Amino acid sequence: MTSDRRQFLLFVAGSVAVAPSVRLLAQQLAASHESALPANVNDFLQVMDFEEAARRALPPAHWGYLATGVEDDLTLKMNVQAFRHIGLRPSRLVDVSKADTSVDVFGSIWETPIVICPVSSQRAFHAEGELATARAARAKHHTMVLSSFTTYSVEEVAKSLGQPPWYQLYMPMEWTDTERLVKRVEDAGCPAIVWTVDVLAGRNTPTAVRLAREDTRTCTACHTHGAGTFIHRPMYEGLGPRNNPPNATWSYVDRLKKLTRMKVLLKGLESAEDARLAVEHGADGLVVSNHGGRATETLRATIDCLPDVVAAVNGRVPVFVDGGVRHGTDIYKALALGARGVGIGRPYIWGLSAFGQEGVERVLDILRAELTLTMRQMGTPTVKDITAARLARASA
Ligand code: FNR
Repeated sequence: MTSDRRQFLLFVAGSVAVAPSVRLLAQQLAASHESALPANVNDFLQVMDFEEAARRALPPAHWGYLATGVEDDLTLKMNVQAFRHIGLRPSRLVDVSKADTSVDVFGSIWETPIVICPVSSQRAFHAEGELATARAARAKHHTMVLSSFTTYSVEEVAKSLGQPPWYQLYMPMEWTDTERLVKRVEDAGCPAIVWTVDVLAGRNTPTAVRLAREDTRTCTACHTHGAGTFIHRPMYEGLGPRNNPPNATWSYVDRLKKLTRMKVLLKGLESAEDARLAVEHGADGLVVSNHGGRATETLRATIDCLPDVVAAVNGRVPVFVDGGVRHGTDIYKALALGARGVGIGRPYIWGLSAFGQEGVERVLDILRAELTLTMRQMGTPTVKDITAARLARASA
């Protein structure tokens, strides 16, 4: 990984345990690495290359917010690494002159299963924030899930997207505020609301805090009362300041279902028991997610949680997954394990941070091309051909 290599070189360059000549060489290599990124977005060949581009584009506090996991950031890393433990078993001599990546979600045909995950505060990454993401989603025909902590309103984003997005809910503390917010989202025409349930207990993000401390800027343009307070929270205008009620239980799913005609999905489930309860309480879909390793340091990758959830749901509602998806083969593996759609978070934000709309588009293009290629290489030209039979344990 590009940034890992550079980090290692910087570590050697700063280490007193190695000879000065070696430190110098490491410094030079790290510097040459620094200039190794292409200037043109179309010259980026893999999603991971955008990570370093984003790191360079962002001030430390914003980079820290994007890069952080929780505790030691291990779950975040495991999300990515777990895909490497799953191998592929291609079947040869199948007609793969065409590949069709489309999937059916709630009766709509999506061109690809790749979903744009809700990521908050996108003006911290690019001046056009969620509007740039929406334009890219529109150009490339992807479903976009808009974060409750969006810096542009759902109405503005719907215009850029050409249709209302799916809406991610951070539930306000007061139920009357939830009613008002859900009504606003429904009036905007959103077909689905995705309630994120994995941060109701709070979280601990030392990496974000450390990097924010390195940031010496005073950011009154967006943070009125210091870091952590925001002026761009259009979806909470007129509502109470607090959200994510820690006393929420399954009865809240019943209440949410009664409140709206929109499809109700739950995001942040990781176990078969919860998946069963979710379906019993009327959830229309589930997202297996650990918030990109930003909620609880479970030390369990989402791709490893997916099979249990899929088995428990047993086809009753669609199951989506996100976390650590960086390659077309990762998407393929998630589909093989029963996901209907596969979400990406950081990858498109890296593209947004470095290049705005064009960067998001390039990330989406790369992933779609890689998925198509994998489907052809694997002898599975349609999504329904992709099953667990095509997977095997990866060699050590
Ligand atoms: C997120 N995620 C997130 N999820 C959510 O439900 N509401 C939100 O507002 C946010 N905000 C957010 C900000 C940032 C900076 C990141 C990186 C992530 C989680 C997101 O929807 C998704 O679950 C993960 O990002 C998926 O993992 P990867 O693709 O980032 O590894």
